[in-house]
Amino acid sequence: MLSGKRILLIIGGGIAAYKSLDLIRRLRERGAAVTPVLTRAAEEFVTPLSVAALAGGKCYGHLFDLTDEAEMGHIELSRAADLVVVAPATADLMAKMAGGHADDLASTLLMATDKRVLIAPAMNVRMWLHRATQRNIATLRADDVRFVGPNEGDMACGEYGPGRMAEPLGIVAAIEAAMGDGPMAGRHVIVTSGPTHEPIDPVRYIANRSSGAQGTALARALRDLGARVTFVTGPASVPPPGGVEVVRVETAIEMLEAVKAALPAEAAVFAAAVADWRVTHASASKMKKDASGKAPALDFAENPDILATVAQMTPGRPKLVVGFAAETDDVIAHARAKRARKQCDWIVANDVRPATGIMGGTENAVTLITAEGAEEWPRLPKDEVARRLAAGIAAALG
Ligand code: C5P
Repeated sequence: MLSGKRILLIIGGGIAAYKSLDLIRRLRERGAAVTPVLTRAAEEFVTPLSVAALAGGKCYGHLFDLTDEAEMGHIELSRAADLVVVAPATADLMAKMAGGHADDLASTLLMATDKRVLIAPAMNVRMWLHRATQRNIATLRADDVRFVGPNEGDMACGEYGPGRMAEPLGIVAAIEAAMGDGPMAGRHVIVTSGPTHEPIDPVRYIANRSSGAQGTALARALRDLGARVTFVTGPASVPPPGGVEVVRVETAIEMLEAVKAALPAEAAVFAAAVADWRVTHASASKMKKDASGKAPALDFAENPDILATVAQMTPGRPKLVVGFAAETDDVIAHARAKRARKQCDWIVANDVRPATGIMGGTENAVTLITAEGAEEWPRLPKDEVARRLAAGIAAALG
């Protein structure tokens, strides 16, 4: 699948750099051409000679070597590739990328490229969890930089946690997906996310609590498998992923219209926390307090159920329709009933009692309810829940 593809591989200075030697081998086995670039720190971990030998060509290292125009200039080097891969991406390299620095060859190439960038972070667990790194991750994601890993496990420094670089074959799979060769390549998926805002008057609204984190992670995971994603989002507090088509809406009615306009799709995942009711007649001007102290009476109308509408469409129903069920009690029983009532294929059920910390948090504990039964997943980061769900969707579509 990678035959004839050109990969610019930037190797950062971390102990995981040794795995990049194997990555080069795996990529070349699959027919890809690899142009390696080492940062100065990377040269402390692997030698330019071994990298060049494995890549079967020149290993680049220093910016000013390239100013000699007999050599390939940095602009051309950054554009000649089909994909730019950074493995390992150290905390420092990620900070440079997020900040737009260009003070060595690697960072200059990353600034000058017009190609997709995939990074495989690797660092100590504390460095990964540090607020500065987490800020940089958010910035890079918003800039449409793709991530593979890091994995969780024992680290070279003796600690345990997230920070281990993804294994070479995992990086190869991510490269294939980033090149549009993933298992979802060419498939259209609609994902709804975030809350809806139902106006009371021009300044007030009713809404559900929803950060949009799980829907965003899911859209990103589907995109990473090569899917063409239409991401229909209400006013969420997390930014939408790059590399997907974003349709911003406010109300449930707008969300339904946007979903209908995005059809046909092979799968649709309804992760949005849609308000069940809207105020029947929203006031055109700001409502004022009454001198009598009487609170206004609001009339509500039921919103359309987007999930049920799409699940029951004939023709036009996506092959796989997935809903979410955020419950505070009898989670499984309610979710099962919801699956039957709405006629969707899967329900991703979760317990959102405040004590779980799930709502607005970074982790989720879900039970996947399908025609075959209920499958309880361990409590996992929302990104990991998204990856598992996206892999399940790819498998179900066959
Ligand atoms: O009925 P409940 O709101 O708990 O159902 C949750 C599921 O239904 C979620 O997948 C949500 O996105 C979807 N839903 C919808 N339109 C509504 C209400 C819920 O798509 N009006």
